[in-house]
Amino acid sequence: MQVDVDLKDFSYKVFIDELSQLKFNQNVAIITNQTVSGLWLKDLLSLIEAKNLNIISIPDGENYKNFDTLNFILEQLFVAKFDRKSTLIAFGGGVVSDITGFAASIFQRGIDFINIPTTLLSQIDASVGGKTGINNKFGKNLIGSFHQPKAVYCESKFLKTLPYREFVAGVAEGIKMAIMFDKNLFKFLEKSDLKTQNEISKLIKKCVEIKAKVVSLDERESNIRVVLNYGHTFGHVIENNTNYLKFLHGEAVSIGMNMANHLAFRLNLISKDELVSIEKLLIKFNLPTRYKIKDIEKFYDKFFLDKKSSNKKIKFILPNGIGKYIVKDDISKDIVLEVLREFQ
Ligand SMILES: NC(=O)c1ccc[n+]([C@@H]2O[C@H](COP(=O)([O-])OP(=O)(O)OC[C@H]3O[C@@H](n4cnc5c(N)ncnc54)[C@H](O)[C@@H]3O)[C@@H](O)[C@H]2O)c1
Ligand SMILES: [Zn+2]
Repeated sequence: MQVDVDLKDFSYKVFIDELSQLKFNQNVAIITNQTVSGLWLKDLLSLIEAKNLNIISIPDGENYKNFDTLNFILEQLFVAKFDRKSTLIAFGGGVVSDITGFAASIFQRGIDFINIPTTLLSQIDASVGGKTGINNKFGKNLIGSFHQPKAVYCESKFLKTLPYREFVAGVAEGIKMAIMFDKNLFKFLEKSDLKTQNEISKLIKKCVEIKAKVVSLDERESNIRVVLNYGHTFGHVIENNTNYLKFLHGEAVSIGMNMANHLAFRLNLISKDELVSIEKLLIKFNLPTRYKIKDIEKFYDKFFLDKKSSNKKIKFILPNGIGKYIVKDDISKDIVLEVLREFQ
């Protein structure tokens, strides 16, 4: 299966379960971490032929998506005498693809990179669309660039070793796309337990199609791409309140979606049945949907930390029925607080 990301001069393909021999006539560096390399690097190496092949292993974890690791990667490229024709391959989850893409975007003013994502979240979301970056002490993903990969290879077989909790955190992002854009995908997820590789590949394909379309329409997130942040406005506050320790990103998004849905219900955008069926689907995948808010005023204030909120207006991305979205930036504080109170 192949999906096109249509971006004029920077178009590329996402290959799903089609990874075969890759041949390069230039220097190549695979950026990965020890967890992924221990499990899958041998398999990948058997498929890659290059003039000069380097492996750069970075420490595993969101904490290492930072300047030090970026600098480490860049220095390794200079040591290996990389030039502007060289290529990087990101082999890992979203952390690896974000930092590899960013390194590729600034090494000698930009070189090519390819994504071979190994988590569900990175296969359906992070590896497609060209957002790259790192974190610093002021927040997550605040430093970065738009730099599109040359190709993406999503292999469902890599997910066999992914811990269940990481897997369903990825499913949460898939549910997000279904609620915003595709009622049939929502129905499919209601029926499927995603136990077979076939079903997982179908989910990857559907989500990549959605992401590719959204990115093709709005590469720089000036309009429709913002819809992919459904559940994130609330989710980011939950992640921040819990110091990024208690919940995986997808888990916080799951709770965030449920909170957003309560707001949508309050505004008559979704019915009670829809509200309940979405929460039921999240629970089916063992995702959390509730979080006890200690101080609703403080929670509300943190919405303004969001990159998407500007001019004192909070942008709420809400379902307008299942499969359709609406973006609202004129919801009164009182109504939002009323909804937050339901989670106290
Ligand atoms: N650029 C974007 O558009 C975009 C979109 C969404 C998220 N992101 C970023 O992605 C990151 C989160 O990505 P993630 O959820 O993939 O987390 P991650 O990269 O930290 O991976 C999660 C864990 O799974 C391990 N792992 C990876 N593949 C495995 C496999 N096949 N088997 C066993 N273990 C495996 C990793 O080593 C890690 O410990 C965040 O930094 C987020 O900001 C970026
Ligand atoms: Zn997300």
